[in-house]
Amino acid sequence: MISEAMRERFAREAAKYPPEQRQSAVMACLAIVQEAFGFISQENELAVADFLGMPAIAVHEVTTFYNMYNQQPVGRYKLNVCTNLPCQLRDGEGALEHLCSRLGVEEGGTTADGLFTVQKSECLGACADAPVLLVNDRQMVSFMDEERLDALLETLKNAK
Ligand code: FES
Repeated sequence: MISEAMRERFAREAAKYPPEQRQSAVMACLAIVQEAFGFISQENELAVADFLGMPAIAVHEVTTFYNMYNQQPVGRYKLNVCTNLPCQLRDGEGALEHLCSRLGVEEGGTTADGLFTVQKSECLGACADAPVLLVNDRQMVSFMDEERLDALLETLKNAK
């Protein structure tokens, strides 16, 4: 449910654009929704579409195109492992499999304690550091061999 405070934030974002281009604020509005709920439900996609006066399918296209938007709840730590070609050449798939095996989840899954979600990702723009992963859409971690992956998991577990 979108609160009045969130609507005010939507309005501030929309005001950055000419009135006929309110839909340019869609990514910012979706980020506000995700910050509040941790993911973007279909109901909240509709609320954003309604607020910006754009088709619901156009909002859905945005949430499903970008990895940073979650369509369902995720763990406290979302680990996006790049599996595009340059990372593949340095065993990005192996990094993904190692994480899934260590955490006992399938790709896209979340651990039972709600701590980790592991997902594939498209190129993260850091190919020279392959294989790479992104923690919670913000922190890039480079050269992820198995030893560094294990160390990362330990660090994150102990940070809770
Ligand atoms: Fe992995 Fe570019 S292919 S960061």
